[in-house]
Amino acid sequence: MKIIEKFPNVYELDGWLATKSICVGTRVYGERIVREGKDEYRTWDLHRSKLAAAIKKGLKEFPIAPSSKVLYLGAASGTTASHISDILTKGELYCVEFAQRSMRDLIAVCEARPNMVPIFADARTPSQYSKDIGECDVLYQDVAQPDQSKILLSNANACLKYGGFSMLCIKSQSIDVTKDPKIVYEKVIADLEPCFEVLQKIDLHPYDEDHLFLHLRKK
Ligand SMILES: C[S@@+](CC[C@H](N)C(=O)[O-])C[C@H]1O[C@@H](n2cnc3c(N)ncnc32)[C@H](O)[C@@H]1O
Repeated sequence: MKIIEKFPNVYELDGWLATKSICVGTRVYGERIVREGKDEYRTWDLHRSKLAAAIKKGLKEFPIAPSSKVLYLGAASGTTASHISDILTKGELYCVEFAQRSMRDLIAVCEARPNMVPIFADARTPSQYSKDIGECDVLYQDVAQPDQSKILLSNANACLKYGGFSMLCIKSQSIDVTKDPKIVYEKVIADLEPCFEVLQKIDLHPYDEDHLFLHLRKK
């Protein structure tokens, strides 16, 4: 098998995106496991994770280093978060989620992974958790809400260091189903520009329709 390290701790196994598991012997969402010697790789589903789709579609720079402190808004049951946890071999991952059902699954994932902390909170009120987690290097957001930009800005203000990176998944249908997605994306970008420099925009088609992935740096 041909294994390429695409970014630190992010691999391609014969073209399949994967992370090396820090929690050997466990699956999170039914992903395929590949064993190579004593290592275990978890394949990363491009249709289940917008971060995986963004990497596949040409994300140029990967802002998450193995030692980063990452705040994840909208962690759901931990699909993408578990891969970020694999990448953060010396880092920390704080996962905010407000749906009880998802939180139950997320807690189970966090219990098996020492670098993951679940936070049962509404991402609209970062004051609930910002003091506990302190400044982060990376802010990842996938909340599918009409006020996505406001949520990102308030969290960046409360928890992201200057020069820190953010990744935002914009779901245009959650903001305005009646508008052309391009118009929706332009408005979100205009809202974010006072706080962020846009480093890259990636349309997630065909993995997620009407979704734009933004890679940003805090000014
Ligand atoms: C599209 S799903 C996230 C999928 C996940 N990022 C993944 O790739 O595995 C959006 C999640 O955001 C959560 N969410 C939406 N608004 C939120 C808010 N204001 N605070 C916390 N979580 C929120 C939802 O409950 C849902 O689980």
